[in-house]
Amino acid sequence: MTDAAAPFVALEGPEGAGKSLLLSALAEDLLTRGVPHLITREPGGTPTGEALREHIWKRPDLSIDGITELLLLSAARHAHMREVIRPALERGEVVITDRFELSTRVYQGFGRGVDLGVISSVTSIAVENRFPDLYVILDVDPQVGKQRQSAAGLTPDRIEREDLEFMLRVREGYRTVAAEEEGAVLVDASNSAASVHRDVFSLLRKRFPHFWG
Ligand code: TMP
Repeated sequence: MTDAAAPFVALEGPEGAGKSLLLSALAEDLLTRGVPHLITREPGGTPTGEALREHIWKRPDLSIDGITELLLLSAARHAHMREVIRPALERGEVVITDRFELSTRVYQGFGRGVDLGVISSVTSIAVENRFPDLYVILDVDPQVGKQRQSAAGLTPDRIEREDLEFMLRVREGYRTVAAEEEGAVLVDASNSAASVHRDVFSLLRKRFPHFWG
């Protein structure tokens, strides 16, 4: 379809920011236009990652410290990169992942207080130095996010049970990264879903005209 390298995009943001709806809209658009693509997620994306999600991550009764979380997530991320993401990019497919290593920086780093240098060292091994070309970060007040989540009847997982202070640190983490990195863009997710989707599509058109032109 084009000679440009297929982009690797990660969607990020707190619970209740509207990531799932956005992901469906992106997938539908790519499908309709016949653009080869792969939609994936973390934790998850491979049998190893899905097992981590199902048997460990979704169990708030397991008490796991921040470094252990980092290592578990990173082990699964390595399989995700080697088995799924890199091969898809090499086939020329647009890859969109629902969360990636930025979640570890903000949740385990800013949220749990794990040293960001340690996270960075472990992550560069896990992802074999292939980072997303763009992080789209949906930004919303954590209280609004929580309200939206409980209105949707979703059960909170181990992280989603954390208190408001934790979620405020997570938001701060996302905002800090967005202010420092050109490849991370904050999108105001307090608006209607339609307007958030418009903003994201226009961002993608600007960054990757060969794929969203
Ligand atoms: P999700 O189903 O909304 O993606 O939820 C996954 C949860 O796991 C969410 O609370 C964020 C958390 N998480 C981390 O703490 N670190 C990570 O690296 C990832 C990928 C997710």
